[in-house]
Amino acid sequence: MRPLPAAELHLHIEGTLEPELIFALAARNGIDLPYADIGDLRRRYEFTDLQSFLNLYYNNMAVLQTEADFTEMTRSYLGRAAAAGVRHAEIMVDPQAHTSRGVPLENCINGVAAALASSETEFGISTELIAAFLRDEPVDDALAVLESLLAMEAPIIGIGLDSAEVGHPPRDFAALYERAHEAGLKCVAHAGEEGPADYIRQALDLLQVDRVDHGIRCMDDEALVERLAAEQTPLTVCPLSNVRLRAVDTLAVHPLPRMLERGLNVSINSDDPAYFGGYLDDNVARLLETFDLSTTQLVRLAENSVRAAFISNERRRELLAEIQQWQSEHAPAAESPT
Ligand code: ADE
Ligand code: ZN
Repeated sequence: MRPLPAAELHLHIEGTLEPELIFALAARNGIDLPYADIGDLRRRYEFTDLQSFLNLYYNNMAVLQTEADFTEMTRSYLGRAAAAGVRHAEIMVDPQAHTSRGVPLENCINGVAAALASSETEFGISTELIAAFLRDEPVDDALAVLESLLAMEAPIIGIGLDSAEVGHPPRDFAALYERAHEAGLKCVAHAGEEGPADYIRQALDLLQVDRVDHGIRCMDDEALVERLAAEQTPLTVCPLSNVRLRAVDTLAVHPLPRMLERGLNVSINSDDPAYFGGYLDDNVARLLETFDLSTTQLVRLAENSVRAAFISNERRRELLAEIQQWQSEHAPAAESPT
């Protein structure tokens, strides 16, 4: 079955570093990895919570040194994403995770941007770049990096907020988001992944975000669900990530079907696919194995992703037409014209 065409809106490019590429880049850059071999590394992909994943995620970034390393990582994601049905991707990068290791901001931004510049011609995927800031670092650090990005005219469409959530509320980053809005950037933030529903409210009210990354904990707060449904705030949900980071006990109890029933504007995304057992198509396949999702619901999820994307209305129309075409090919026999 041809994969469902969709936009991927919640993807950390550093979370696409596959073990094989980690070892290849380590060899190229003369970096000693603290793992015996690829199998040893893979066996460590058992996480108890967000922090246990972040520790490994940041450690593995040591292999990213040159502009070419960032380009190779990004091209490798784009190739895999194309096979997964991704037609547009808004890719987050964590600049502070590299500058704090002494890697120049230019290596990171120019390296990723070089791959994105040819994503349409090489992979048929339109792309945008989002600079995500680490919420477990001081807001002043984030502001300084944002100023550097603006000064170098980095090709970013927006900013995000990620890393360890609990104890690092959105309100601490109000000044960063004020600056980003003033600079005409789009704004997204992780909220309600492990943190409480109130962090989602803060992201909406204090950071004025255009989308919420994850947002699953809104289901703990009935009034918030009603508001998100009324305002149709996009929530970029990452089912396999939530299972692997124990934000939910199992996929079978994931709130996605209930979120759809409540009329929330949810899309499916892969977050850190190299770490969480799969890309966008794997997330869709596991959802289909687990839940009785109809073709109409799948199409709704894909349409939501395209409607929530930071793209031109022309590109939006093109992608919505592709989804309609997919639906006409996959509609159950009873629904097909005779
Ligand atoms: N950085 C990379 N993946 C993340 C996630 N799922 N939550 C918060 N920060 C992240
Ligand atoms: Zn994320």
